[in-house]
Amino acid sequence: MDIDAFQSKLNELQSEATRRIRQAESKDEAIKAKNAYLGRDGDIQEMMSIIGELPDEDKPTAGRIANEAKETVKSAYEARLEELEQLQLERQLDEESVDVTLPARTPPARSPHPIAEVESELIDVFTAMGFEVAEGPEIETDFFNFEALNFPEDHPARDMQDTFKTTDDHLLRTHTSPVQIRTMQAYQPPIRIISPGRVYRCDDDLTHSPVFHQIEGLLIDADVTMAQLKGTLRHFAEETFGDETSMRFRPSFFPFTEPSAEVDIGCLFCDGEGCQVCGDTGWLEILGAGMVDPNVLETVGLDPDTYTGFAFGMGIERIVMLKRGIDAIRHFFENDLRFLRQF
Ligand code: DAH
Repeated sequence: MDIDAFQSKLNELQSEATRRIRQAESKDEAIKAKNAYLGRDGDIQEMMSIIGELPDEDKPTAGRIANEAKETVKSAYEARLEELEQLQLERQLDEESVDVTLPARTPPARSPHPIAEVESELIDVFTAMGFEVAEGPEIETDFFNFEALNFPEDHPARDMQDTFKTTDDHLLRTHTSPVQIRTMQAYQPPIRIISPGRVYRCDDDLTHSPVFHQIEGLLIDADVTMAQLKGTLRHFAEETFGDETSMRFRPSFFPFTEPSAEVDIGCLFCDGEGCQVCGDTGWLEILGAGMVDPNVLETVGLDPDTYTGFAFGMGIERIVMLKRGIDAIRHFFENDLRFLRQF
């Protein structure tokens, strides 16, 4: 082979190599193409071994043009890699691109859950009268849930509240009344609190759910009377159910109040005529209340000769069901949007 033949073979290989590299569609293809010419057994690399066979005077020229060819192929390779990277980036940006002309999605209108809504209405009614909100744990001890509230162990009054026990001594609170005890232990009278929150009972039917909500009230001071309890609850009933609402107290029993009362309002659906909702009585029971039992005051270290007080407790679901005409308690907990969207 002479130098001319060497040069033309080299030119041929060089243009073949750069063409293949430029056509490579991926990094792998580009590497393969480059190695086919510059790799250890590559076609251009092999030309290097031919240089030795050329006449001496041609060897420097042959060496120079062979190196130039290698450089050219190498830079074609590097240029193609850069191009491929750029292409890949553009493709990615294309896929992730945002169409700024698309109309915005309107988020669905939100509204508070009916229980949360009525709970905050009730809080407003009582805080306007000077009550403060107090909260307590949902996992309670037997002491706070029962004993300190004057439910002796094994007393049948405990049967009124079907209880979820977690350990021998712990339970899911069956009512919000334990917050009365916690508050009286922590603060000195005058005390005026309401305590909204979740409570639990092993109970499940049209009007009972294993989890539900109550709001508790407690007022302790010197010379508190039942008349003040009645005035407070009358104001609550008027604010919650309307100015014309009638109300009555019926004697009842709770271990932690003496005397105790069950409080009814005139049926909202039949104006006292008697209907299905009120069971033809004309009255709807809405809460329990009474004067704090002296035993309870003594348990928390308050002198019953100095202090008296009243307490009340009601189920929030019941109030919502009456206010909004809802017929089954389970609707509150099913998260069915067709129900929730009505509020
Ligand atoms: N804790 C009672 C219950 O869940 C409701 C109740 C009745 C609370 C009378 C009171 C009260 O504070 O005085 O059945």
